[in-house]
Amino acid sequence: MTSTAAPHAWLIENARLLTLAPKAGEHGARRGARLRDLSIIARGWVACEGDRIVAVGEGEPSDRSSAAAGTRRINALGKVVMPAFVDCHTHACWAGNRYDEYSMRLAGREYLDILAAGGGIMSTVRAVRESSTEALAATLTQHLQRMRSKGTGAIEVKSGYGLSEAAELKMLDAISMVANGAPGTLAPIIPTFLGAHAIPADNERWPEQCIAMLPTVVARFGAVQCDAFCERSAWTPQQCQELFKAARALGMPCTAHVDQFNALGFLTQALTLGVRSVAHLEATTQAELAAAAVSNTIGIFLPGSGMHLDLRFAPARRFIAQGGAPAIATNCNPGSSPVYSMPLIVALATRFLGLTHEESITAATFNAAAALGLDAECGAICEGYRSDLLILPTDDERALAYEYGSAEPETVILGGQFVVGSDSLRSTLA
Ligand code: NIG
Repeated sequence: MTSTAAPHAWLIENARLLTLAPKAGEHGARRGARLRDLSIIARGWVACEGDRIVAVGEGEPSDRSSAAAGTRRINALGKVVMPAFVDCHTHACWAGNRYDEYSMRLAGREYLDILAAGGGIMSTVRAVRESSTEALAATLTQHLQRMRSKGTGAIEVKSGYGLSEAAELKMLDAISMVANGAPGTLAPIIPTFLGAHAIPADNERWPEQCIAMLPTVVARFGAVQCDAFCERSAWTPQQCQELFKAARALGMPCTAHVDQFNALGFLTQALTLGVRSVAHLEATTQAELAAAAVSNTIGIFLPGSGMHLDLRFAPARRFIAQGGAPAIATNCNPGSSPVYSMPLIVALATRFLGLTHEESITAATFNAAAALGLDAECGAICEGYRSDLLILPTDDERALAYEYGSAEPETVILGGQFVVGSDSLRSTLA
């Protein structure tokens, strides 16, 4: 994939715009009927300067929006233009592969049994420990390029395959290296500290060591998100609670992998601790789901895992019906969700989570941005937001949900830079 610098001033016209623009006074993730309102301008334009949107309008572009010297115009020919996807839950930094594990699972072994026997996440931990920072950064860059070619702009990337102080810091170094250099600079990369991903069999003191390294994480990388995998063979509710109390005291927003296989009761505790989001929820009880739905915590649903592991899917429809704020994400990782494509996740969300196509698009853009604290600049097409934009090969956005595995943007522009598109469009922008 090559990228070409876009001209400073540019605009897309003759577009069916899914703006997802916030209403006056509206803040944070959307719920209820707002999830189904994509704020569509049936024929409109969007004017940009570099990596920012400067104006959006209906009909023909205003003289003011196209007056800047050298403004390049892209005719969308009536096709859908929408904000780039935001992938708010990924483990996209890893080393090695898990092909053997997939063969084991095809032969009947279960994901948690493989983890308990020292495989699964722990096999990726061994590969990451043997990798250099540079090698991890190079592999992450390859993963990112695949994700961006499918229309992903801002993205969250977790550590969690180091599980020692040195290896966790190495992962965060690799993620920061990519975030701060090309092609990371095309759109935000949000690092998350997931030292609480598992407990190595040879180090039962890892939970206390992991909690003790939080100040070092904050000193080196700022108050990044802190995540934990609360599950049998991973971290207990008690250990997660201690971790999150320490993280909150350092100003780190918290997010948790909760109830993926077993409901251990941590969801209620996580809500009490005020976590920003909870992910998975496949095994969540009705009572805990109802409590999550009326809280300020965003529910992140990951249908790629059910698709790859066991065809169990979270009760996202009920969560929405009870007033919850949903986001969806790839959960891109080598063990439970080897998928790079947000369009595929939108399609799976309509089939297996019970979302409508509008709800899926909102959950994959604006609400996903809110899950990362980015909803003031990503996930919508409005003045001041990032110029991370997609042109779909269709004038009907329902194609994103209707097709699966093949519905992809024909043009991806991130931070005002042309990432994917036809040769004729490329030359228009060059
Ligand atoms: O969210 N379940 C915990 N973490 C990931 C899987 C990581 C892996 O298997 O490597 C998840 O599904």
